[in-house]
Amino acid sequence: MARDLWPARLHHLRRDSPNPEPLARFYAELLGDRVAPLPDGSWLVAGRGRRLVIGKGAPGSVPYFALEVHDRAQLATLEGEPFSSPLFEEGALALGDPDGRRVVVGIAKRDGEASGLPARLQHFVCATTRLAEMLEFYRALGMVESDRVLEGEALSAVFLRSDPEHHSFAAFRAPQSRPDHHCYETTGWLDIRDWADRMAKLRIPLWWGPGRHGPGNNLFFMIEDPDGHKVEFSAELELMPKEMAPRTWPHEQRTLNLWGSAWMRS
Ligand SMILES: [Fe+2]
Repeated sequence: MARDLWPARLHHLRRDSPNPEPLARFYAELLGDRVAPLPDGSWLVAGRGRRLVIGKGAPGSVPYFALEVHDRAQLATLEGEPFSSPLFEEGALALGDPDGRRVVVGIAKRDGEASGLPARLQHFVCATTRLAEMLEFYRALGMVESDRVLEGEALSAVFLRSDPEHHSFAAFRAPQSRPDHHCYETTGWLDIRDWADRMAKLRIPLWWGPGRHGPGNNLFFMIEDPDGHKVEFSAELELMPKEMAPRTWPHEQRTLNLWGSAWMRS
């Protein structure tokens, strides 16, 4: 049976810190979401199309991210270690990527209706010292390459999709492997305005943007959480059919931000 990860969507991720409760309360205030302790001592922050598990661990760490597949037939095409997530039904699987982060795949438990500003958890991005291996791993998992960024002949970033949205995962070359950011996809540019106004009200300065990324063509801004992990709000992310071939971008500021300056990570 061929591995069938298509379609899969980012459903939740775990974001750790030495003292998780203040971080959980930060995200609850940032997003206007509910926060509740979980039986294992971690915290759940959940809202409209978004869920974070905040646990005790190294500052800024993201030990796993979790992709939701449609049904058990699709899940049965995948192989991995059994994994228990409070947000997935029994039978979820985890695979370790070359950086040691776990990718969890499972069937989502139903959660209740949520209100608040629209922002669906949509992608996760990390820095890595092993970019070529990461690309190979995620392609073998069943993701499809959307775009790559090259500096001369060398890969400097890769973007992969698991449904028509341009990327659900991306990685860039860096001297240290670490999580970089997770992103919330909104329903349009006016939502970006509303989220930026919310940041103003909360006195959280925008860290980068607003701008428009080259790969993905999405409008965005980013802020930092208390550990320096970045949080992105995005709109109008490009859609790409499964069959569409990957494209190549040069490693330059314009690729990261068509509108202006960029933070070059490597
Ligand atoms: Fe992003």
